[in-house]
Amino acid sequence: MSSRVSAKDKAEADERLGSSGTTSRGPDSESAGECRAIAHSNIALAKYWGKRNRELNLPAVPSLSLTLAALSTTTRVKFERSLERDSFELNGQPGDATATTRVSELLGRVRRAAGLSCFAHVTSSNDFPTASGLASSASGFAALALAALGAAGLTWPDSAVSDLARASSVSAARSVFGGFVTLEAGATSAQTLAVGPVAERLMMLIAATEMGPKAVGSTNGMLHTQATSPYYSSWVDTAPRVYAELLSALLAGDVQKLGETMEHSALLMHASMIAARPALMYWSPATLAALACVRELRQRGTLAYFTIDAGPHVKVLTTSEHSTLVREQLLSVPGVRQVLVSGVGRGARILGEP
Ligand code: PMV
Repeated sequence: MSSRVSAKDKAEADERLGSSGTTSRGPDSESAGECRAIAHSNIALAKYWGKRNRELNLPAVPSLSLTLAALSTTTRVKFERSLERDSFELNGQPGDATATTRVSELLGRVRRAAGLSCFAHVTSSNDFPTASGLASSASGFAALALAALGAAGLTWPDSAVSDLARASSVSAARSVFGGFVTLEAGATSAQTLAVGPVAERLMMLIAATEMGPKAVGSTNGMLHTQATSPYYSSWVDTAPRVYAELLSALLAGDVQKLGETMEHSALLMHASMIAARPALMYWSPATLAALACVRELRQRGTLAYFTIDAGPHVKVLTTSEHSTLVREQLLSVPGVRQVLVSGVGRGARILGEP
């Protein structure tokens, strides 16, 4: 596995992002304007962790996610000739330097594709409580990709929007689509998955726990795991099989098998992180208490399965019949501050009025 990128790979990636579709308006700087787009967050049932290629930001393993109706980011991009640099505001506050640089990198790709030279003002807001630390780069970069293309006058197919979002954040590639979404290992864009009626019954609950010290960001966490964990290669070897099992359980509408496989995927991923040196541990006491709560619910016949991302919060897959009980039980777990309930969400879309 190489994290090096050749000049040819880079040229191909630029070419792909620069010629990804049709333009609705000519790519002249006169026609650049503004656009607002919304994208929903997604939770991976089969997890992605690790880069096949760091520079091109390609995933080492396949993933499968569920787009969440209840968590979304709305982003407005406005290209303005008077600006001397790109500016970024998140939830009414100026974005920090790292976030602004990542936003600017995506805007740069769009500028190159559209032949634009002016900078943009980007304002973004999340509709979920920001204090909970649930802010997700997935909904953020998917909304930004779509709004930036719209403001530049470009209309690209969903696969190319997904590719653009993926170059900034792999999980954002999946938020371009609604429902269940797959992203193959090494793939440049995600794909939507046609699933039977089971999708209508599934709900995801997000138990937001108390935040500990600032977590290690996912990119740094992945690179550290790749560099130091003896279990990383086992994770990369095993993840495709777990993904395939999860996919067939989902297509068969077997919710128990889906849930069990989802838990296995998350625990395999966390095992690879915990075996890094120094260990990468995203869990807090409340995380473990929430896992115990989910297991206890299951012992009593309630359908509930957990997954955990690069943070202490616990996400619980259940069905609409069980979601009220699961929510009540999670709320009684010490350290769980709030529980958000979400059904299946739609794909990213442009909003009418800027
Ligand atoms: O694409 P990123 O940098 O947001 O990484 C996402 C990593 C996990 O949330 C832990 C797993 C996943 O597949 O979403």
